[in-house]
Amino acid sequence: MKPINVGLLGIGTVGGGTFTVLKRNQEEISRRAGREIIVKMIADKDIDKARSLAGSDIIVTDNAHDVVTNPDIDIVVELIGGKTIAKDLILEAIAQGKHVVTANKALLASHGTEIFAAARDQGVMVAYEAAVAGGIPIIKALREGLTANRIEWIAGIINGTANFILSEMREKGLSFEPVLDQAQKLGYAEADPTFDIEGIDAAHKITIMAAIAFGIPVQFDKAYTEGISKLTQEDIRYAEELGYRIKLLGITKRVAQGIELRVHPALIPKSRLIANVEGVMNAVLVKGDAVGPTLYYGAGAGAEPTASSVIADLVDVARMQTADPLHRVPALSFQPDSLTDTPILAMQEVQTSYYLRLHVIDKAGVLAEITRILADLDISINAMIQKEPGDDEDTVNIIILTHKTVEKNVNAAITKIEALSVVTGQVTRIRIEELNS
Ligand code: HSE
Repeated sequence: MKPINVGLLGIGTVGGGTFTVLKRNQEEISRRAGREIIVKMIADKDIDKARSLAGSDIIVTDNAHDVVTNPDIDIVVELIGGKTIAKDLILEAIAQGKHVVTANKALLASHGTEIFAAARDQGVMVAYEAAVAGGIPIIKALREGLTANRIEWIAGIINGTANFILSEMREKGLSFEPVLDQAQKLGYAEADPTFDIEGIDAAHKITIMAAIAFGIPVQFDKAYTEGISKLTQEDIRYAEELGYRIKLLGITKRVAQGIELRVHPALIPKSRLIANVEGVMNAVLVKGDAVGPTLYYGAGAGAEPTASSVIADLVDVARMQTADPLHRVPALSFQPDSLTDTPILAMQEVQTSYYLRLHVIDKAGVLAEITRILADLDISINAMIQKEPGDDEDTVNIIILTHKTVEKNVNAAITKIEALSVVTGQVTRIRIEELNS
């Protein structure tokens, strides 16, 4: 069979890894795909770097449009990232009748609906395994392996940088800033680490998974996003003492009123497998009604792990290229005319349990005032402990674990508690996810 010709846009970490793995495993990949997969063109602004990698039989250009308009190219692999140039190039490639493989989670989480619709109109595929959790084949699992199930919820550690920071803070007793410096020196966190530490990268990924799991459009603008930059060593230690570990989770859940879509730090029981995912590794826990909980673990970033997903997509496209477009796996798992408009719930309406840490003056009646506020808002206390006095000896930390309650009531309680004269500073609020139902 005629080889399938690939044009690579971007030869950075993932592009380089894709090129290397394709070359190294060429023979086995061809035997699987049923035809050769050949990189025919590479576009990168750093043309010297691209040339040194490519050798003489690959066309190298610094103009990505040359690739997407070349009639010899069957699949465009977009590894540039970002939402502007990458979007234009993908739409142009689709308009030219080319299949697209991309790792661009930010783009798909915001503009996936438009891109998938354009691809459908042209009868081409847009494959994106590498966009979520790097080398873990979670898109394949959700779209195909779990297709019999009504998915109930997904909870994932889907940002390796944030997980590395939390692991180091817990294991070495360090605070956030020095560990972030270390992550940057090790090349995990970006020079501007905002997307990693503020939960934005994780929100892109959980948004994509929510769409596939529940048959809804991709709606990044409705995801609630809270990062790890305010977490303290103190809370990590208290959580540990209480039998929990703090992780940055991407969560999406089907509930009676709609769909929860949120990223935030959460206490999870230490006994859960996912609580023991450390360092830069990723893990995604999926609960299906038939299969029960399933866990997917692996490298969420890096040159070759991410290349593993890019190449899996290339093989999928090579295998399915000649199939009737209506018989291919739909981009979002559900048939495009079967997506629903089930609402994404505002964070205020989400129900979960809470860890609250209050810094209070140690005198008679303080707890009574606090518990009265909680009771009035129908917040039931699950556990409560008083920790060691602060430096001034007159204040103490009180930790309260609540039963499941609605977020707006907790917010109202925090406002009232912070207004009490016996409470100093702000109340720390971290959500608790038991991940067992
Ligand atoms: N920056 C991401 C992470 C990897 O730290 O997990 C790419 O999604």
